[in-house]
Amino acid sequence: MTLVGAQPEFYPTPQAAPEAPPETVPTHVGIIMDGNGRWANRRGLPRLAGHHAGTENVRRITIACADAGVEVLTIYAFSTENWRRPADEVFGLMRLLAQRIDKEAAELHRNNVRIRHIGELEGIQPRLAERVRAAVALTRDNTGLVLNVAFNYGGRHEIARAVQRIMQAGVSADNLTEELIDQYLDTAGLPDLDLVIRTGGEMRLSNFLLWQAAYAEYYSTPICWPDFGREELYQAFAEFGRRVRRFGGLS
Ligand code: FPP
Repeated sequence: MTLVGAQPEFYPTPQAAPEAPPETVPTHVGIIMDGNGRWANRRGLPRLAGHHAGTENVRRITIACADAGVEVLTIYAFSTENWRRPADEVFGLMRLLAQRIDKEAAELHRNNVRIRHIGELEGIQPRLAERVRAAVALTRDNTGLVLNVAFNYGGRHEIARAVQRIMQAGVSADNLTEELIDQYLDTAGLPDLDLVIRTGGEMRLSNFLLWQAAYAEYYSTPICWPDFGREELYQAFAEFGRRVRRFGGLS
């Protein structure tokens, strides 16, 4: 049957997923996933509901980064300073991670994502630490995007641990170079950060990848993390593509 007079708007073509032009895409993106609590408050929900929605968004944004051709995505999941939060929130976040990590790792594994962890697993509840190690092991041979999860991570703490290991290795002062320090950081083998995105509107680094962000471009958006989608991600990339990076030089 022919539908006479059918208007195209009655049969809209599906919206094409937004795409990121390749020339705008950073190699290594870091995200400070802020605003989960406010997202929940605005909906009259407990803060943990915001963290729950934030966890869902990790998978969506990881896949959007992989689709765009990002090589490394580092997400700030839990900082060494987050222990200062009320015990029930810390406990709730740990429980959420413990509950979700296997399922998320399996889904990311299907997408050829390689999971890495940076930070300190010492002091983390042993069962959760074991799940983190298992997620890393499961995805070790994947060849797609590296999802680098900063969990119980602080930039200063990472540098202090690297210096300890350098001293333990007996490296002499004359042999201490920036390249050597790179090799002792948790991010050894990964490229420096190109773009730091912070959701939730604040404009600070909060002890995130202090060494690796030396020449990173910074992008802050008021959008809370659970609402930060593929379109907003590619807007951040477009802004990154417009920046002129001089790395201390003149051109
Ligand atoms: C900041 O929002 C968010 C966090 C401290 C936790 C972020 C963690 C996740 C999204 C889970 C990570 C999940 C995986 C699978 C690695 P906030 O609580 O500071 O928000 P507010 O500033 O509005 O209070």
